[in-house]
Amino acid sequence: MPALVLLGAQWGDEGKGKATDLLGGSVDYVVRYQGGNNAGHTVVVGDQKYALHLLPSGILSPGCTPVIGNGVVVDPSVLFSELNGLNDRGVDTSKLLISGNAHIITPYNVTVDKVTERFLGKRKIGTTGRGIGPTYADKINRVGIRIQDLYDESILTQKVEAALDGKNQLLTKVFNRRAIEVGQVVEELLGYADRLRPYVADTVLVLNQALEQDKVVLFEGGQGTLLDIDHGTYPFVTSSNPTAGGACTGAGVGPTKISRVIGILKAYTTRVGSGPFPTELFDEDGDALRRIGGERGVTTGRDRRCGWFDAVIARYATRVNGLTDFFLTKLDVLTGWEQIPVCVAYEIDGRRVEDLPYSQTDFHHAKPVYEYLPGWSEDITKAKSFSDLPKNAQDYVKALEEMSGAPISAIGVGPGRDETIEINSFL
Ligand code: GDP
Ligand code: IMO
Ligand code: MG
Repeated sequence: MPALVLLGAQWGDEGKGKATDLLGGSVDYVVRYQGGNNAGHTVVVGDQKYALHLLPSGILSPGCTPVIGNGVVVDPSVLFSELNGLNDRGVDTSKLLISGNAHIITPYNVTVDKVTERFLGKRKIGTTGRGIGPTYADKINRVGIRIQDLYDESILTQKVEAALDGKNQLLTKVFNRRAIEVGQVVEELLGYADRLRPYVADTVLVLNQALEQDKVVLFEGGQGTLLDIDHGTYPFVTSSNPTAGGACTGAGVGPTKISRVIGILKAYTTRVGSGPFPTELFDEDGDALRRIGGERGVTTGRDRRCGWFDAVIARYATRVNGLTDFFLTKLDVLTGWEQIPVCVAYEIDGRRVEDLPYSQTDFHHAKPVYEYLPGWSEDITKAKSFSDLPKNAQDYVKALEEMSGAPISAIGVGPGRDETIEINSFL
């Protein structure tokens, strides 16, 4: 059964966009199943660089149908500017399908995201400010607005009224802001309806029929395992399920259909926003990883926090996602270190711990236990096969594979489509 899930194994920005794009030429559908334009996926094709936020990275492969599933939250203005940007560069986006059940990020959701963060002060999550959390909160509170609501003005008005009833109290009385007018929001949302219409589809039916016809479907996660609302470092997480199960709920495809789950794993670790990060570096090694790896957020432009590879996290990702493979990215960034520390376990209040602790208190106290692997100095960006890698780079990959609990089936040695070593085929 040719259904693959591709997701982030760490805190996001592992190189999911590049990995999806690489497979895009061989798959029929690429589906986003959660998150929204908090994601920033970079794809480099030849000398062209694309930054995608909401659209699945498969949009750059002509034969592939990109799908925005029911689990995604959609900001229509962002969607249109992304589509316009791609059209201006000659990319055909006409095949895009969007679930009518996907929720809309309304302007008031964006406002609430920003004021909530401001009120949290030092305790802020460091969100992307795109309205993601408040939109999912409305969904769970059953006062969300879905794409299909745009096609019934009366229902839309009632729903916006219901959503704003409580929010306006909060905005005016707690946050000291002006109330938001129902009519203005309805008018703005209705303004998106016509342009969205050709894309809106019953994506659950489309995807299940495609699978019945043995088409290849790739589910592209946003964010990463440790940012998962259930399995991540709560509350410093995003408000959806990037983990593998999220692909089923966020696209309406049963778990029995999923044949492979690929975890995208950076050869070191990064994180954006607040929250614990045991292997974080505050020294020149951290600065060097940031500089060489170009670790700056695609969405918010924030510097990413950088640290060494953490095998405890990789093992955890294998477990909670049922990973069948890893795609190890950015190995080239580690070229030049004499030895490379790898976190193999944590020390927590004097105890050695091999598995990610479920207790947040323990995780906040976790100190990395490092093993030091010998580095390499040869340029590896031209390597096409595993045997082209210097011995120490091969050993680094083998050690990570052993510690992480799933085979490393591909290795990224540069940002470009062809800068990849394929070890086992994904299809
Ligand atoms: P995503 O959010 O998981 O799609 O990742 P981002 O696009 O936010 O960040 C990954 C960055 O690493 C992008 O700038 C990619 O072009 C780049 N990249 C991906 N794979 C590799 C690789 O193997 N080597 C290098 N040097 N860069 C890579
Ligand atoms: P991709 O798909 C890295 C982080 C934010 C913040 C937390 C909550 O490019 O890997 P949100 O706006 O989602 O409510 O913010 O999650 N975050 C990401 N970090 N990569 C991402 O996406 C992220 N999307 C959200 O920085 O800490
Ligand atoms: Mg990113």
